[in-house]
Amino acid sequence: PAPVIVAIDGPSGTGKSSTSRAVATALGLSYLDTGAQYRAITWWMLTNDVDVNDPAAVAAAAHKPAIVSGTNPAAPGITADGVDATGPIRTQEVTAAVSAVSAVPEIRAQLTELQRRIAVEAETGIVVEGRDIGTTVLPDADLKVFLTASPEARAARRSGELRGADGAAKPDLAGTQAALLQRDSADSSRTTSPLRQAGDALEVDTTELTLEQVVECVVTLIREKQ
Ligand code: C5P
Repeated sequence: PAPVIVAIDGPSGTGKSSTSRAVATALGLSYLDTGAQYRAITWWMLTNDVDVNDPAAVAAAAHKPAIVSGTNPAAPGITADGVDATGPIRTQEVTAAVSAVSAVPEIRAQLTELQRRIAVEAETGIVVEGRDIGTTVLPDADLKVFLTASPEARAARRSGELRGADGAAKPDLAGTQAALLQRDSADSSRTTSPLRQAGDALEVDTTELTLEQVVECVVTLIREKQ
């Protein structure tokens, strides 16, 4: 079959990453986590003393770090300026700063171009996950999926992930939910390519579904396109 391009968008905690990786693995496709790219650029800014709350400073530094994304769904690492950023991009500092950095148009232009290049070069096809893939990055994708879930389900999943990541005590659920809603509101209200469902995207509400059920649903939708 011809290489298939799949766009998976949605807010945080809807299972985008787990779903995208499992779908790519099941179908032998490449995988691109665009959120990891925004996080890697943010991490680079924080470690190089760029004031992430100063859009002009962020714009001026946008081209400095070379971001290289692994596209193997089994081990999608990422480097910024040759330094492995796979672990550090998941810290709370990066999570708290990423929405401000990703709202800067120069940052978006830079990463959008990189994302399109990676998608075109994926010979076996690719699953690309993010916030603006179906609307802006790959408007001609073969399949667009928009994942949603209730705020409660999203916060519960996210707090489970945080706990799994560092083995620490369960973070406060109300605090996790508040931080997550704040990030979604920032991502949805920015001027340049906000988080938005594309008109031709299929919405999948994952609130009552297991990961396996969501993966099966998306795999079926892709097979119908191939
Ligand atoms: O998916 P993840 O939660 O890792 O994304 C981190 C942040 O990166 C999002 O909150 C958003 O600010 C930004 N992002 C974006 N556009 C994308 C992917 C992520 O603005 N396509």
